Amino acid sequence: MSFYTNDGYLYCEDIKVKHIQDRIPNSPIYLYSLNRILENYKAYKEALDGIPSIISYALKANSNLTIARHLREAGASATLVSGNELKIAMAAGFDPKLVTYNGNGKTTAELSMAVLHGVMVNIDSEFDLQHIKKAAAETRKTANVTLRINPDVDSEVHPYVATGFKNSKFGIMNERLDWYLKEIENSSGLNLVGLHCHLGSTIKKVRVFQDAMKIMIHFFKEIREKGFNLKYLNLGGGLGIDYEKNQPIPTPSELIDSIRDYLIPDLTLIVEPGRSMIGDASILITRVTGVKTNGSKNFIVIDGSMAELIRPCLYDAYHHIGFIEPVTGEKKVFDIVGPICESADFLGKDRELPTPHETAGLVVYDVGAYCYIMSSNYNLKMRPAEYLVNGNQLIRIRRAETMDDYMRLFENDPVAI
Ligand SMILES: Cc1ncc(COP(=O)(O)O)c(C=O)c1O
Repeated sequence: MSFYTNDGYLYCEDIKVKHIQDRIPNSPIYLYSLNRILENYKAYKEALDGIPSIISYALKANSNLTIARHLREAGASATLVSGNELKIAMAAGFDPKLVTYNGNGKTTAELSMAVLHGVMVNIDSEFDLQHIKKAAAETRKTANVTLRINPDVDSEVHPYVATGFKNSKFGIMNERLDWYLKEIENSSGLNLVGLHCHLGSTIKKVRVFQDAMKIMIHFFKEIREKGFNLKYLNLGGGLGIDYEKNQPIPTPSELIDSIRDYLIPDLTLIVEPGRSMIGDASILITRVTGVKTNGSKNFIVIDGSMAELIRPCLYDAYHHIGFIEPVTGEKKVFDIVGPICESADFLGKDRELPTPHETAGLVVYDVGAYCYIMSSNYNLKMRPAEYLVNGNQLIRIRRAETMDDYMRLFENDPVAI
């Protein structure tokens, strides 16, 4: 078991979380369960058994190097959205030839680095194609490319994480497909190896993947018939996770079973999960600073905030909240807020919880994806440390940022112009 409660105390694998909090000076901290990460990977591996496939972990969800290395060792590949993510992927030892690079605004410098390393690059627009061509010419390499099609399927998710609509900022205009194919055919530096789509994140219905698969297979066959030797179909789109702790979320097996019948010979399927690989594998452990009431509102003020975890503020996202230890105060309805000077600084609203004592350990669940990676220094909060639990072992996988780290970037250098 990864996270469970016993006698009112929260455990991560074999370690009592309170024990960790008592021994570590910094607060808040991110705590990961290695077992949970590997179980999540295994769920995809088993779902894809018998299907030529690549499980391409989306580093954008969480790019901690140790976690990336564990996933690579387990057998995953990686999906990137920036040149710096390519550097992490290389440091983690991923095979660049199986890595895919997506994005609507890849710079020419990023593209040159990707092409040089043999990464599969996703063509996102007409200008992007020209930039990839240039990168191929400059590096004297052939770029393996995929085309990002917009299947225009409604993924029924928050508009900020929907990515596969016709009017999306991502992907090519499908009506211009022939133009793209001609350009690729006439470019010695481009080798079209596959198609890609991305539907959105936090998807809760397999129908969304199935609808997209039908459309993508249609394109795939059509382009093959035109003589292109397509191998990869990258069906991007992220499964949700059960943030609310009571939602029916499809499993990777249910996802793959829903599209299995549409697979055709000599096709390698790529999936690029981020959230469903890492999201439920981490908790944010904070301390209660104090409890207050204003008007009709009760507040638990903690040392965690929107600086470490912006999802509630950015997407109005729900994260389950509890305590790492027995708390027996009177039950009330609270907003759980941080110390940041913004009313948007909340981690949970209207939660019924027992009134905690000062310094009690308060935990925010399911923070593995899009939390640490979106953290900031707002109000000069320093980014927290990250720890990984493996059975009864506790490993620090990133130290906390310090004010010295921050101060080191200030300078006063005249710039010649
Ligand atoms: C291109 C691409 N690939 C993969 C992902 C990962 O998605 P998720 O974290 O929902 O699995 C995203 C996220 O939006 C993405 O934009």
